[in-house]
Amino acid sequence: MRRLLAKLERSHGLDRIGDPARKAILAAVPREGVRDVLHGRWLGHPLHPAVVQFPVGAWLSAAVLDALAFLPGRRPAATALLVAGTAAALPAAVTGATDFTTLSREQRRVAVVHALANSVALGLFVSSIVARLRGRHAAGRGLSYAGTGVAGVGAFLGGHLSFSQDAGTNHAAAALPLVPRGWHGIGAIEEFRPGRVESRILGETPVLVYRDGDGDRFSVLIGRCAHRSGPLADGRTVEVDGEACLECPWHGSVYRLADGRAVHGPASSDQVVLRTRIRAGRLEAARP
Ligand code: FES
Repeated sequence: MRRLLAKLERSHGLDRIGDPARKAILAAVPREGVRDVLHGRWLGHPLHPAVVQFPVGAWLSAAVLDALAFLPGRRPAATALLVAGTAAALPAAVTGATDFTTLSREQRRVAVVHALANSVALGLFVSSIVARLRGRHAAGRGLSYAGTGVAGVGAFLGGHLSFSQDAGTNHAAAALPLVPRGWHGIGAIEEFRPGRVESRILGETPVLVYRDGDGDRFSVLIGRCAHRSGPLADGRTVEVDGEACLECPWHGSVYRLADGRAVHGPASSDQVVLRTRIRAGRLEAARP
């Protein structure tokens, strides 16, 4: 299985589907604000894994009802669950497609097969609903069992994307344990000019120090982007709603410098911010 997954990640042929699909999705959802909603920035968490629970839960429940042959009224209940799951597949597909546009090539190759498996499963569930409505219940059950199996393959690949390929995880949070515990001196406060972002290393972790325009407040952020570890120190400062923000140079996520809030995606997680204090004219930082 591991060899198969590694082969999938290296299958350049899948780029012939993945690259144009990415362009088509970006063209279909051109507004950054809409993509932010679909990525789950408002939730502080990727939206796709949350919404896929609805179709998967409904389809699995239908399979359980189908298996309980002795239960009265199970047929209409199973059909209703299949219809509900199929309807819920639409938001799952839309959020997944939006996340697809921000994946690396290796991740996109796996995501292409994940999407194909889910599309086949969806086709099987729709066929099952049609068969049931025509009174062909045995065929309907067979089709939905087949759909459940194929959807399982899709779910397995989704898990591989999330847990082995790190798609959708908070990469800044992963860098946090490398900051040694306790308070650490970052530098004398006069080293940091108001309104500027400076980079430093804390333990093995790059951090960014921002001193606000008035020179009163400091914030220290993890220097690796929460989205996919992009080097935030190379980003440019921008202003959003009157607030100083930093734009990641890799995919354009924008974080508020005062508190790390993700203002624009694709990042759905906020940037990790360290605690700060001033001691004897020196800025110190510690893990939150
Ligand atoms: S790494 Fe993707 S936006 Fe920063």
